[in-house]
Parts: sequence; structure tokens; C-alpha cells
Amino acid sequence: MQHCKDNPWQSPPADLKLAQDEVHVWCMALDQDPALVEQFQQTLSSDEQERAAKFYFPKDRQHFIVARGLLRLLLGRYLDQAPTQLRFVYNAYGKPSLEAPPSLHFNLSHSKGLALLGVSSDRELGIDLEYIRTDFPFEQVAKSVFSVSEQNILRSLPDALKPEAFFNAWTRKEAYIKALGQGLSIPLDQFDVAFVPGEPAALRDVRGTWANGNNWTFQHLTPAPNYAGAIVVAGSGWQLKCWRWSNG
Ligand SMILES: CC(C)(COP(=O)(O)OP(=O)(O)OC[C@H]1O[C@@H](n2cnc3c(N)ncnc32)[C@H](O)[C@@H]1OP(=O)(O)O)[C@@H](O)C(=O)NCCC(=O)NCCS
Repeated sequence: MQHCKDNPWQSPPADLKLAQDEVHVWCMALDQDPALVEQFQQTLSSDEQERAAKFYFPKDRQHFIVARGLLRLLLGRYLDQAPTQLRFVYNAYGKPSLEAPPSLHFNLSHSKGLALLGVSSDRELGIDLEYIRTDFPFEQVAKSVFSVSEQNILRSLPDALKPEAFFNAWTRKEAYIKALGQGLSIPLDQFDVAFVPGEPAALRDVRGTWANGNNWTFQHLTPAPNYAGAIVVAGSGWQLKCWRWSNG
């Protein structure tokens, strides 16, 4: 499999194509020119505009508009449709998908001014991105979101590795939950991921009867320094391509 980490994020070609065995990940900066934010806002549906209006902080509103605007722009580009033509539907846990075929699988995540968008033609996927904070009670938070075995591994690491390790685990667990699409109804302590820095992303163990039996492939993503990202895609043997979106 091609790894974005070894292969720098690239500018997309003009004739962008998504082959059946490919998964594309887009890295998108959410701080954009007000004129562009305004353009993106015009492409949002009325329910998206209502959601945007509810954000208390202007920056959060702007980030939501840019992420949704880019989601529409890029999916529209793959499908040869105008951004305004796309209609999203949501499952019971809020996971968005496209209403009408020809469809695509996609998932989005944002953190501290950056967003990642994963797209595939026929594979379910989940993606997560987090800014690696160092001022964080890792071990305390781990008690409520990691399995006992994951907590023990985190505790055994040198302090200097703990922030990266914690956010590796968090993004891998979150991307898995997002791929499954059932939110926090998935018991976070009932599965283990590999997360020690330098260790390839993987699902280590799944306990209980909730797992859907699919074979999932995990991939670490580093879109920028001090960010941890992960994508989880159904099946194996897919090729990863990482694009950096820029205006112009
Ligand atoms: C909502 C949730 C899907 C992720 O929330 P998050 O990490 O705050 O947000 P992200 O930026 O990663 O992802 C949000 C995007 O995921 C998509 N999404 C929403 N619900 C989703 C779901 N159930 N499944 C997959 N994707 C979903 C949407 O595109 C959303 O974008 P939008 O807010 O612009 O509409 C959910 O898993 C959650 O609430 N998690 C709580 C965090 C937590 O405790 N994680 C434990 C990890 S160890």
C-alpha cells in the first residue's frame, strides 16, 4: 500500500480520477479568504446554512462553512455535478452520505483549522484528525475512552511519547467508529488499536458481538506537524493518494 507519510501530500492533477482500488485523502486548510467563505456559503443547503448560523464563534462558523463547501466542491468534481446539486442524508448517528447514485463513500474530520476528507468509490471508510495537544490529562481521559490494555500500554511509555501515542490511539479508535458509522454506541473499551509511535496503525483485538465482521485496514496520516490522523477503510489492497487542496 502507498503511504502518505512516505509520499508527500501532492497537488491534485487537473484530470482528477478516482479508480476503484483507490482511496483519496484531501488535506484542507479551513482559514480562507472571506470572499471564498462567502462563495462556499452560497453552495450550502438550507439545513447546512441553519447549522452554520448556530455556531457561537465566527471562526467555528467559518470552518464549518469551508469544510462543507469543500466537501461539496470535491465530491461534485468526482461526480461531475455542481456542488449545489448534491444532497446529503444522515444515518441515525449523524453519519452523512450522498442521497442519490452515482455515489461515493466519504468521511470528514476537522481539528484546529485543518480538515481531512477521505473519498472512495465503493469502500466504506472513516477518518479522524486531531491536533496533538501536550497540555492534556492523557492518562485520566484514557480511563474513559481506552481499553484496559491500551491504558496499560500508554502508562508504560516515556512521558515524551505520551502525547503522540495518545492521539494516535484516539484518532485510530475514532476513525474506526466513524467507519462503522454508529457513533459512541460502539463500546470504546471493547477493541484495541496499535498506537505506540512508530508502530503501524492496526486493529489489534475486537471483543463482544457488536463488530460487523468486516475486514478493515488502518492507515496513519500526518497532514502537518503536530497533527495525528487516521483513516480506516473496508477491505485491503487499496491504494492511498493524498492531495493538498489549495485555491487556484
Ligand atoms: C460525531 C463523531 C462522529 C465525531 O465527532 P468529532 O471527533 O467531534 O468530529 P470530527 O471532526 O472528527 O468529525 C465530524 C464529521 O464527521 C461526520 N460525522 C458525523 N457523525 C458521524 C458518524 N456517526 N459517523 C461517522 N462520521 C460522522 C460529519 O461529516 C462531521 O462533520 P460536520 O460536523 O462538519 O458535519 C462521534 O464519533 C463523536 O461524538 N465522538 C466523540 C469523541 C470521542 O469521545 N471519541 C473517542 C475516541 S477514543
